Amino acid sequence: MLFCFLKKKFMCFNYFFLTLQLRKTHKRSKMEEIIKQHIEKIRQISSATKEELENLRIEYLGKKGVMNDLFAKFKEVAPEKRKEMGIRLNELKQTAQQKIDELKALAEEKAEQNQVKDDLTKPSEIVSLGSTHPLTLVRNEIIDIFSRIGYTVQEGPEIEDDWHVFSALNFPPEHPARDMQDTFFVENGREDGNDVLLRTHTSSVQVRTMERMKPPIRIIAPGRVFRNEAISARAHCIFHQVEGLYIDKGVSFADLKQNLLYFVKEMFGEDTEIRLRPSYFPFTEPSAEMDISCTICKGEGCNICKHTGWLEIMGCGMVDPNVLDASGIDSKVYSGFAFGMGIERIAMLKYDVKDLRQYFENDIRFLNQFSGAF
Ligand code: PHE
Repeated sequence: MLFCFLKKKFMCFNYFFLTLQLRKTHKRSKMEEIIKQHIEKIRQISSATKEELENLRIEYLGKKGVMNDLFAKFKEVAPEKRKEMGIRLNELKQTAQQKIDELKALAEEKAEQNQVKDDLTKPSEIVSLGSTHPLTLVRNEIIDIFSRIGYTVQEGPEIEDDWHVFSALNFPPEHPARDMQDTFFVENGREDGNDVLLRTHTSSVQVRTMERMKPPIRIIAPGRVFRNEAISARAHCIFHQVEGLYIDKGVSFADLKQNLLYFVKEMFGEDTEIRLRPSYFPFTEPSAEMDISCTICKGEGCNICKHTGWLEIMGCGMVDPNVLDASGIDSKVYSGFAFGMGIERIAMLKYDVKDLRQYFENDIRFLNQFSGAF
């Protein structure tokens, strides 16, 4: 080639010039080809040991590496092609650098994992925990208060049958609660009449407990209940109740009143008063609604208590003898009382929650307000 070049140089200047151009063009495309191959080669590497990584660095970015070599050759590239070739060269350099960084991060991560595996004394990572839901806080407080006076916790299924939710609790067959408008049915119109449904109250646990245990019975049953209601600030189709039941010989209405008074004073403060208003439930006789003196205005009258000074918080009464007998407890020997309250309602009063829907929205700004956060 050199010989040829020298010979031609003497022969024709024009020809010499063309040859030079060709040589340079050839050089450029060859260089481009080399760059392309290197880029592809680098891109294909997916993992490397520490040693391989160092070798890679030396091969490309070291003093005698590919990059310096190519930059040296860059001087020979025709001026009009320099810009484009410069871009390509930088692309190669960047590709090499990025790959090295990427593989390094990967190797470090792997090393860390191995270290954690090996080092069992290493402290675990801190997992950030949420706060206790207000309904759980109130539920736990109710359980706590009643457990101090001898109540234990009982639970029952959320998918229930007609017997435990209605029939054993003395609901007549035509009672409106048995209507589709009020109850969610899983299996309706069964031949044996024992439809399957979502429990509408935790009173079903009363029945299950009486069927299973002998008096004295002193239990509370906290749990989720379901009613076919339109959702609004004051009503929801899913909510929570705590039912209480006390059965023994000689249990009277005075015992009921005393137990509830104790609960209210523990829950809302020593100065809170109660009043019982006659009411009706199929499973209790006599029945009552219990009000507490307004926790906001202390009985003076405000918007919350609709200027009555009282807030209704639960239903209660003496267990109807029919219910005792249906559940296998002799109503001639034993008597008892039952009460039931909504946890949402108690939490609304305790924490001044205005809209029931907030309990279920899981808005972190709402949930974080409550004490008991851990
Ligand atoms: N089960 C009733 C309700 O859901 C509450 C209640 C329980 C009333 C026990 C009296 C006795 O409204």
